[in-house]
Amino acid sequence: MNLLRTKSVEQSIRDTEEPEHRLRRALSALDLTVFGVGVIIGTGIFVLTGQVARDKAGPAVALSFILAAVVCGLAALCYAEFASTVPVAGSAYTFSYATLGEFPAWIIGWDLILEMGLAAAVVAVGWSGYFAALLDDIGITIPGSIADPPGEGGTVNVPAIALVLAVTTLLVIGIKISSRVNAIVVTIKVAVVLLVIVAGLFYVKADNYDPFIPPSQAAEEVGGLNAPLMQVLFGFTPATYGWLGVFSALAIVFFAYIGFDIVATAAEEAKRPQRDLPIGLIGSLVITAILYATVSIVVVGMQNYSRLSTDAPLADAFKANGHPAYATIIDVGAVAGLITVVMILLLGMSRILFAMSRDGLLPARLSAVHPRFGTPYRATVIMGVIAAVLAGFIPLAELAELVNIGTLFAFLVVSVAVVVMRRTRPDLPRAFRTPWVPVVPALSVLGCLFVMINLPVETWLRFLAWMGVGIVVYALYGARNSRLQRSTGTHAKN
Ligand code: ALA
Repeated sequence: MNLLRTKSVEQSIRDTEEPEHRLRRALSALDLTVFGVGVIIGTGIFVLTGQVARDKAGPAVALSFILAAVVCGLAALCYAEFASTVPVAGSAYTFSYATLGEFPAWIIGWDLILEMGLAAAVVAVGWSGYFAALLDDIGITIPGSIADPPGEGGTVNVPAIALVLAVTTLLVIGIKISSRVNAIVVTIKVAVVLLVIVAGLFYVKADNYDPFIPPSQAAEEVGGLNAPLMQVLFGFTPATYGWLGVFSALAIVFFAYIGFDIVATAAEEAKRPQRDLPIGLIGSLVITAILYATVSIVVVGMQNYSRLSTDAPLADAFKANGHPAYATIIDVGAVAGLITVVMILLLGMSRILFAMSRDGLLPARLSAVHPRFGTPYRATVIMGVIAAVLAGFIPLAELAELVNIGTLFAFLVVSVAVVVMRRTRPDLPRAFRTPWVPVVPALSVLGCLFVMINLPVETWLRFLAWMGVGIVVYALYGARNSRLQRSTGTHAKN
């Protein structure tokens, strides 16, 4: 058995033409960019900004956002070359199959399912918090036992489950309708973010930026398994604030950018993938990076970082300045905005499952396309149900950082794979070429590794455990049922 058998780019593209696996091509460059923005802007900016400014970085959280954008930008340049060369659903999974081989591809697919499934559940839980707060404002109170996250007082999170199931239905009905809903929501949420920037500027006080990077402080509570791997590896005393704080904040706010890579998973639904995928990937990242850097600078200027709220920092910064009306508008924006984050994460997850099942690494039934809607409905429903269960019943607070490590790992592999494919397939037409290969991919790998070692040891252990399970599943199922294996026998050629 050859674990490194590769699937040729030509074969991957041919598979997309099979009638029973053909997805509907309906998305333009603008749709793809809006898709990107729709999934990127979410709990990262609406929730995490306050937590990390308060506990880790102080006003320098804006620096963490900018550094995270640089790391993502380097990876996006690598994704764009792949997406324009191999415009096939499955993103990093498919790219790895074409370059590094089946086993690495499986590992990446498995990793991405974890990443997106957990992210969808985490954001659904964040949404239910905002939703309950908004209902509360208008006098309707949902009992905590059916609205609070399990582990934080709730038994089952009904609003989160309802949201996941509703967006799953939308995704089954069709990509075009999903993209229309997305466009409306993106307009609302970008308007709210711009409102925070413009209105917030009037309440910025210079004193709040002093000190911009608060001096480093030793902190007992970030010791043990909670300490970032870097601090353990290099023997730093556990600390918050200072540059170490900026870096550990970077590893967390990285979550805010998660999703731009999902643009690549919609490759088979793009009308002109070669041209439009790079635009969607890079365009959505640039737009959100500018918004994030500006919003975070404004918010830490409106309220001293030590007093920022950890649940709803943007809204509460306005309340603290005596403007609760703005806060309500921001809450509405968050409630609307988080819906599409969940929707598109599920979209990405189902496309990866679809691609893996089409290749025989998971049961073939999962890659059936709905005769009328043209969507991979079985993959979508299964992923929706899994995410609903996670969101409804599992305490997720501790697990959110797993999403980051999973994504960073995929970025790292794609960056390596770009260089590999330049060597193995120099002949392929590339509508977009990553600049300065191998320098940009090398910097991307280093950037991802740097952010990864700033994640807690505990997150690393959980990640390795999930990968261990993936290896077992591959050995028991994928290795034997792979379509490539069956078509080429045991003498598969690379
Ligand atoms: N980037 C998305 C968010 O911040 C996942 O919610």
